Formats: sequence, structure tokens, C-alpha cells
Amino acid sequence: MAILELQNICKDYMQGKEPVRVLKNVSLSVEKGEYIAIMGPSGSGKTTLMNIIGCLDVPTSGSYVLDGADLQDLSDDALADIRNRHIGFVFQSFHLLPKMTALDNVALPLLYGGVPLKERKRRAAEALEAVGLSDRAEFYPNQLSGGQCQRVAIARAMVGKPDILLADEPTGALDTRAGSQIMEIFRGLNDSGMTILMITHEPSIAACADKTYHILDGELHTAGVPGRGGSEDEAE
Ligand SMILES: Nc1ncnc2c1ncn2[C@@H]1O[C@H](COP(=O)(O)OP(=O)(O)OP(=O)(O)O)[C@@H](O)[C@H]1O
Ligand SMILES: [Mg+2]
Repeated sequence: MAILELQNICKDYMQGKEPVRVLKNVSLSVEKGEYIAIMGPSGSGKTTLMNIIGCLDVPTSGSYVLDGADLQDLSDDALADIRNRHIGFVFQSFHLLPKMTALDNVALPLLYGGVPLKERKRRAAEALEAVGLSDRAEFYPNQLSGGQCQRVAIARAMVGKPDILLADEPTGALDTRAGSQIMEIFRGLNDSGMTILMITHEPSIAACADKTYHILDGELHTAGVPGRGGSEDEAE
């Protein structure tokens, strides 16, 4: 069953007085439990597409059905509700709050969800354990390495138990070793049933997904290229 179904999605931005089309008739169907990578040059529309999939932005035209619900014409509140229930985000630059410990950063989404304090702490500790950071719970972001910060960010994305993980260049700021640790965590999450969409510039990272799509000048090339265990010819 498709968990995400995008049909003929277009997105225009005003640049000066002219609308410029940055996504052009993008159609994409993602099955529950799929792990896909999206590659493409800088400015090709990857983040724009991710923001639409993550209900952070709305398309100019086209249809988007998420887990059977047509998102067209929903209010901002309704979109936020769908986002909170279904989607976890991981960004290149982690987006952790500097004045909060790792544990409190991870617990934060549960606060917005109205979960009581004790339960928030328990679930945050569990999520930190899942990314191997139980011993860093009381550390602040500036006391953590980049790879550790990203693992905290993944724990924060997972703590609400979303069924879809969206990651925009999750290894872009990390060295190879930290990057492969993140890829191991993603593999484990996917093995436990999570649907993952990951943007990356790096062919070796895209190869960790089961399927790779390419976006070029706002057009998605939907002929999925086998990733894991496949050929290495996925350079841009
Ligand atoms: N809010 C905005 N207003 C106007 N133009 C925008 C806006 N956001 C993005 N764009 C334009 O849309 C195009 C696609 O941007 P996007 O951020 O999706 O690229 P990207 O593929 O994620 O690039 P990168 O790999 O550098 O992150 C770019 O040309 C950008 O200038
Ligand atoms: Mg981007």
C-alpha cells in the first residue's frame, strides 16, 4: 500500500515579480516500509520537495495523499496535526536547541504533544538508548560531536513514533565514519518497518537506500535505480 502518493506536484516561487517553477509535475509513490534516496544537484528542488512531503509547505498545484488522506485544501492546523502524527525530520545541521540537554532536546516534541513530564523523560531516555547515547543524556549539544548531535536529532525525530522519516542531507556535515553510523541507525529503523526518504549528494550514502530517484531542474526521474548492493554508477 502506498503511504505517500504525489501526483503532478508543481511548486512556483516568486523570484522578483516572476513566478519561477521549481518543481515540475513531480509524481512519486512510496510504499509503506520503503527506503528511498533522492539525489540531485544544488538548487534542483530537493528541499522544496521534502518540505511538501513533510507538510511544511504546500504545492502550487497537484495532489498529495498521505496514508489515505488527501491533503489538498487542509488548514495549517490540520496539516500540522498530520505532520506531528506521521513524520519525523532530520536535517543536515541537526537543529538542536543549544541550551537544552540531549535528553530535553529529544523530549521536546512530546511536550508539544501534551505528554506528562515523567513519561516524556522515560520515552526520551529510551530513544537515546536506541541511538547508543544513554551515557550522553545530560550533555549539551556543544559538548557532543557532530555525529552524536545527529544521533540526538534522530532520537528526537523518533520519539513520537512517526511512521515516516524525512532526512535532508543527514550525513552532509559528518565525516565518513559518523556518516556510516547514521546509515546503520537508518537501516535498523527501516528494518523495523519505518518508511524513509533521504536526500543526499553522496552516491555511497544513497546506496544505503533500497531505491534512488534523481531530481534535475525540478523534474523527478522516477525510474528507480536499485541502490543497496547495486552498481556504483550513481554519480551526478
Ligand atoms: N522561499 C523561496 N523563494 C524563492 N525561491 C526559492 C525559495 N526556496 C527555494 N527557492 C528556489 O527554488 C530552487 C530549489 O531550491 P531547493 O532548496 O529545493 O534546492 P535543493 O535541491 O534542496 O538544493 P541544495 O542541494 O543546495 O540544498 C532554488 O533555485 C531556490 O533558489
Ligand atoms: Mg536542500
